[in-house]
Amino acid sequence: MILVTGGTGYIGSHTVVELQNAGYEVAVIDNLSNSSEAVLPRLRAITGKEIPFYKADIRDRAALEEIFTKEKIDSVIHFAGLKAVGESVQKPWEYYENNIGGTLTLVDVMRKHGCKNIIFSSSSTVYGDPAVIPVTEETPKGTCTNPYGWTKSMLEQILSDIQRADPEWNVVLLRYFNPIGAHKSGTIGENPDGIPNNLMPYITQVAVGKLPQLSVFGNDYDTPDGTGVRDYIHVVDLAVGHVKALKKLEPGSGLNIYNLGTGVGYSVLEIVKNFEEASGQKIPYVIKGRRPGDIAMNYANADKAARELGWKAENGIREMCEDSWRWQSQNPNGYNA
Ligand code: NAD
Ligand code: UFG
Repeated sequence: MILVTGGTGYIGSHTVVELQNAGYEVAVIDNLSNSSEAVLPRLRAITGKEIPFYKADIRDRAALEEIFTKEKIDSVIHFAGLKAVGESVQKPWEYYENNIGGTLTLVDVMRKHGCKNIIFSSSSTVYGDPAVIPVTEETPKGTCTNPYGWTKSMLEQILSDIQRADPEWNVVLLRYFNPIGAHKSGTIGENPDGIPNNLMPYITQVAVGKLPQLSVFGNDYDTPDGTGVRDYIHVVDLAVGHVKALKKLEPGSGLNIYNLGTGVGYSVLEIVKNFEEASGQKIPYVIKGRRPGDIAMNYANADKAARELGWKAENGIREMCEDSWRWQSQNPNGYNA
C-alpha cells in the first residue's frame, strides 16, 4: 500500500486517481489545512475504489504510528506541506515547523516501521534564478527568495543525507515546474483559499466573474514579450510522473532526482491568449510592476525523466487551459459549492 500525505490537496488528489488506476492500494493522510474532505466522494466516483482516509497531521507522531501499525505501507508519496510563497515570508517559523518538522517526524516513524521508500514533492524553485535555461538536474541549486523555497531546498538536502547514511532508503526528489489543469471529469481541481496567488487559478476566477481583472506582474523582463515565462505542466501528467517514479523505489535504487516539466516555456500573455481561445472567455488585464522574488524565465529539461522513467508530459497548453476552465466553470466555488 502507498501512503499519500497531503492526498486531499491539488496534486495529491490527482495522484491518488492515477495510482488507483494503475492498480495500487492507496491510503491518505491530510490535516485538511488547505483542502476539503469533499474531494473524497469525488475521487471514489472517478475510480470506483475506496480510500482509507486519516484526518491527521504529519507532525502528530501518535497518529502516524497508528497508520503504520494498521496499514501495510510499502512507500510514501509525500505532498503534505504549506506552499504559499508570500505567506511563508510573513510566517517563516510556521513554514519551517510544518514542512521540515513534519517531514522529520514522518521519516522517523517510517524507518521505525521499516518503510524506507519516499517520493518527495520538490520544486523548480530550488534552482533559484538559474544562469542557463532549460535547467537539468545537474544545474546547481540556487538561492531561494522565500522561506517556502528554502523548505524544499533543505528537505532535499535532509532526505539526501538520510539516504546516504542508510542505503536501505530509496528516495526520489521530484522537482515540479508549474502545475495547472485538472482531471478531465471536471470534478476535482485546484481549490485555492481566498484570492489566488498563482496565475492559472487567478485567470479562471476572472473568467468565472469572481475577480474583475488579472494583474500581469511586469512586462519589462528579458523575455520575448516582456512577461514572465514558465513551464506549465498538466497536473494529470505530473500525477502520472509519480506513478512512473515508483520504479525508482525498488531496492538499491538509492537517491534519484527528476525534473517534471514539459520543456516548453509560455509567457503570461501567451497563457492569457491560450486560455481565451480554449474557454471563449475574455480575460481583461492590466500591467503592474514586477512581483518581488519573481524571476524572468524558467523551464525544464525533462530528458532524464523520459530516459529513466519512461515519462513525458502528454498534454499541451490547449488541454491545460480547457481542463482548468472545465473545473472552474463546473465548480465556481471549488469544493465549497
Ligand atoms: P495543496 O495545498 O493543495 O496540498 C497540500 C496538502 O497538504 C493540503 O491538502 C494540506 O491540507 C496538506 N497539509 C499541509 N500540511 C500538513 C500537515 N502538517 N499534515 C497533514 N497534511 C498537511 O498543494 P499542492 O499544490 O497539491 O502541492 C503538493 C506539494 O507539491 C506541496 O508539498 C507543494 O509544496 C509541492 N509543490 C507544489 C507546486 C504547485 O505549484 N502547486 C509546485 C512545486 C511543488
Ligand atoms: N503572474 C501574474 N499575475 C498573477 C499571478 C502570476 O502576472 O496574478 C505571473 C508571475 O509573475 C509569473 C507567472 O505568472 O511570471 C507564474 O506565476 P505563478 O505564481 O503562477 O507561479 P511561480 O512560477 O511564481 O511559482 C509557482 C509556485 C511556487 C513553485 C514554482 C515552481 O507558486 O511555489 O511555481 O514550481 F515553486
